[in-house]
Amino acid sequence: MSEPPYSPGLAGVIAGETTIGCVDQGKLLYRGYTIQDLAETVCFEEVAHLLLFESLPNAGELETVKQSLANYRPLPVPLISALRAIPNDVPMMDVLRSMVSFTSHFDPIEGHDEAANRQRALWLTAQIGGIIAARYRLLNGQEPLSPKDGLSHAAQILYQCHGEIPDALSEELIDLSLVLYAEHDFNASTFTGRVICSTLSDIVSGVTGAIGALKGPLHGGANEAAMEMLARFKSAEEASSWITQALANKEKVMGFGHRVYKQGDHRAVILEEKLRKLAAQKGEETWMAIYDAIKKPMTEEKKIYPNVDYPCGLTYFLLGLPLDLYTPLFVASRVTGWSAHILEQARNNRIYRPLSIYKGPKARPVPPISER
Ligand SMILES: CC(C)(COP(=O)(O)OP(=O)(O)OC[C@H]1O[C@@H](n2cnc3c(N)ncnc32)[C@H](O)[C@@H]1OP(=O)(O)O)[C@@H](O)C(=O)NCCC(=O)NCCS
Repeated sequence: MSEPPYSPGLAGVIAGETTIGCVDQGKLLYRGYTIQDLAETVCFEEVAHLLLFESLPNAGELETVKQSLANYRPLPVPLISALRAIPNDVPMMDVLRSMVSFTSHFDPIEGHDEAANRQRALWLTAQIGGIIAARYRLLNGQEPLSPKDGLSHAAQILYQCHGEIPDALSEELIDLSLVLYAEHDFNASTFTGRVICSTLSDIVSGVTGAIGALKGPLHGGANEAAMEMLARFKSAEEASSWITQALANKEKVMGFGHRVYKQGDHRAVILEEKLRKLAAQKGEETWMAIYDAIKKPMTEEKKIYPNVDYPCGLTYFLLGLPLDLYTPLFVASRVTGWSAHILEQARNNRIYRPLSIYKGPKARPVPPISER
């Protein structure tokens, strides 16, 4: 019998069926709706409903989602104590991973059927926003803030970080980034969540594992890594000479490339347009020039295009957010996509258990300890 084909990184391998998201060169769909239409017309809470409840909400359903998020936002008191105990130099993504696991010990939802897990997904979404903001404030020597009634999820996170209701532009751009980040089919972190839950483990374990997968710079960590790269340059000229050298040395340039998109990422195009307006409005043309100095040779010479993390890093930066918040904000959104996939996996589950090609020594006897 011939061996099944081997594909490093599972490239090109179909690992499951889904009705949630479709990622291909021609389009990005969330349950059949294009990302362009969603980005223009709906807010993050509507996307959360679409992913978790399988339809865009009517006005009453949207109100219910918002109310659920509001009810689930307050953090358990022991979680705040645990946050205080974590050393200040621990990266935010590590804190978030630990605290998502920790908060599950105070899970207010009863039961583990699909309806309960949908609520659990909303509860996790609400808690994650609060955890990020509470950690941010403690790091800045400030006390965590209680949520404020009536704010959107995007505005709430900013409010709980800064203690001020954000301006309309900041809210709009954070909300847009949450919409763009919410779902992306069988990417590494979503697949991690599905694999964990394919053992019949629980949704919090799936989301905790997915956070660990997302933090790597080849995945969600790229928004921070891309901004770290841009921040090294004071001018477009400096960026140009660096990228020439980096390409000659075959260095990886963060925020570029994608396993599926080979002619560009739909989300990057949408966000870049808004980023240009933001930079112009703030008089930050130098940053855009640096951004373009890297992008030009990557796209024109290498034919490797920006992914969403490239414009997102600079967008968050121009909005005044600290680097350590960028990937956590990705989590604040993608938790909805992860949860939808975990629910879908449970409905038609088969444990993930691929094969490997053994390259180790041939079978051999165990030598006695005196001979090793
Ligand atoms: C996203 C990513 C992990 C996809 O990996 P992949 O599907 O395995 O892509 P490949 O390694 O097959 O890339 C094909 C070629 O393009 C090159 N390439 C891909 N992304 C590149 C990048 N960001 N910078 C420079 N070269 C890159 C690879 O080195 C490879 O070149 P080679 O054929 O000469 O070896 C990869 O593009 C990457 O590391 N990007 C930077 C991190 C990032 O922005 N991640 C966020 C993704 S949304």
